[in-house]
Amino acid sequence: MSRVLPLISTIDLWRTYQLGSEEINALRGVNMTVMPGQFIAVVGRSGSGKTTLLNILAGLDKPTSGQVLFENRDIAAMNEHDLTEIRRHKIGFVFQSFGLLPLLSAFENVELPLRIAGVRTREREERTRDALEIVGLWGRAKHRPYELSGGEQQRVAIARAVVNNPPLILADEPTGELDSTNARAIFGLFKEMVLKQGISVLSATHDSTLLAMADEVKEIRDGHLNDATDLGQRYRD
Ligand SMILES: Nc1ncnc2c1ncn2[C@@H]1O[C@H](COP(=O)(O)OP(=O)(O)OP(=O)(O)O)[C@@H](O)[C@H]1O
Ligand SMILES: [Mg+2]
Repeated sequence: MSRVLPLISTIDLWRTYQLGSEEINALRGVNMTVMPGQFIAVVGRSGSGKTTLLNILAGLDKPTSGQVLFENRDIAAMNEHDLTEIRRHKIGFVFQSFGLLPLLSAFENVELPLRIAGVRTREREERTRDALEIVGLWGRAKHRPYELSGGEQQRVAIARAVVNNPPLILADEPTGELDSTNARAIFGLFKEMVLKQGISVLSATHDSTLLAMADEVKEIRDGHLNDATDLGQRYRD
């Protein structure tokens, strides 16, 4: 029997921002593990460090000290080529404000990571279609972002994040600009992808009504990340 390795984990992660003469310790020793097929929600008041943590996990920012291990390899010790591989193929990032390119259609937005990765035309078309079908928007493929609702734009952003079949989706308040119906739809989509495709999702959220959909809830407070799964259980049933 093979042991299941963590997809991503952190060891004593610190991130200190220097603001003039003031030091802000956004993260003070965060230890966490995301296993394959796990859906984790991260909560915490504004300014608690959720974005800081997600950016470091995505390799978009570096910790002041501590380690991030991706499939048990320290990303700080990787060369630029390996890091780019991870960013392009292993992690899909979803932002609060969708981040779609306004002049491209939904299809072209989703296809873009495949173009960057050098995937051939035929395969690009198939995979883009699959991703848009997963989020229920193949019928909107030709629409530009401004011709879509906020919820639809976020679903396109999720299709773009999953089109490379990454094992990990990191999402920073993906429902922050959506009404409650669309917010539930986005978390429902995450849950479905976790169950059907075995990917892992780590998503920051302000919306406590969504927490019951995650397998685990973690709370950042005073720079520490603690288990808060009971917060989610309060909303179950
Ligand atoms: N570039 C920066 N320079 C200085 N301080 C920063 C910087 N980015 C974030 N901070 C500070 O670090 C702390 C954590 O910020 P972060 O953006 O991670 O919080 P957050 O939990 O994502 O908040 P929100 O819920 O409002 O998005 C805050 O005190 C913030 O002011
Ligand atoms: Mg934030």
